[in-house]
Amino acid sequence: MSESSWDAALTELIRATMPAHERMHPSGRLRFRASARARGSLPRHVADRSAVPWDSIVPAHAGQIEIEVGCGKGTFLAEAARQQPEVFFVGIEASPSYAAQSEHRLTDRGCTNAAVVADDGRLFFADTVPPGSVAKVHIYHPDPWPKRRHRKRRLFDRQFARLVATALAPGGKLLVATDNTRYFGEILATLGSAERLRRSRETELHYGDEVAGVAFGPTNFSQKYRAEERPRHRAVYARTERASIRETSMTQAENSAWTRVAALDGVPTDEGLPVECEGKELVLFRTDDGIACLEDSCPHRGAALSEGKVRDGEIICPWHGWRFVLDSGECSTLPGSMPAKTFTVRVESNEIFVKLG
Ligand code: FES
Repeated sequence: MSESSWDAALTELIRATMPAHERMHPSGRLRFRASARARGSLPRHVADRSAVPWDSIVPAHAGQIEIEVGCGKGTFLAEAARQQPEVFFVGIEASPSYAAQSEHRLTDRGCTNAAVVADDGRLFFADTVPPGSVAKVHIYHPDPWPKRRHRKRRLFDRQFARLVATALAPGGKLLVATDNTRYFGEILATLGSAERLRRSRETELHYGDEVAGVAFGPTNFSQKYRAEERPRHRAVYARTERASIRETSMTQAENSAWTRVAALDGVPTDEGLPVECEGKELVLFRTDDGIACLEDSCPHRGAALSEGKVRDGEIICPWHGWRFVLDSGECSTLPGSMPAKTFTVRVESNEIFVKLG
């Protein structure tokens, strides 16, 4: 069986056994779906119990595919679909009532080359989007969740960057806009350290402030913020074939050496310790035999394994529950399928060293 067949079979298995509430975002942002359902204001595609299959959203004959995460009431989506009839657009919106408004807008304008899905953006990329299938991802004015206790609800983190990089075709683009200067800095830091994404200043210059229906807007927020003369931050990242030049050259120069990554007494007993080694994100676990080191990226869809739970010498992926043996990386949910990548570890005194090569 090919790797993609294993992937599909295992994903189906996980979905079939997943309780309905598992689809809810940990932040609880999707709880209002029930009340929206009661009012009847739902779009055609709602991923409240399980993921909506990709082929029920995107027609088989679709050529270039672009996704807008957080399409709101569909201002950009409808304009983009109108201006680029050769492209198929998918709008993702966590609020079902806004998603329904987006869908009405598309219908009113006769746009048949776009669809709206009421879903959480992160879950949509994790569960639905086939790898390498998307030409552009648009994310305009994501909620900055300024309160400290709400930070975990932010869209941009290492895991989300990996999911987007996986979804993009080589050369595909991620376009981001925000008025929040601090959040923009954090987005740049997150995307700047992501493998397979590199900032494309050329494309930013090409698009400038906004190309209506193509890049950065118009959205309801962009129009409002322009009127208020708020800062307008823009960035474009391109999906590269390989790890960035910086990461590659560092690895080549140093991959035969042991690198100290953590102190032994800093590794917890019942969860992983995320560490970085020469630009690579790794995670350390305590095992019966000592310390295990895995790449902090699930081989299925790239979830951070450091956010999973440790049970009986295995790490359980936080996204779809695949289990990986800590010592070998082997996937015990479906033996023989994609293992998690492991690295050699050496412990000296209280220091942990890892060898990447
Ligand atoms: S990302 Fe799907 S099981 Fe890990």
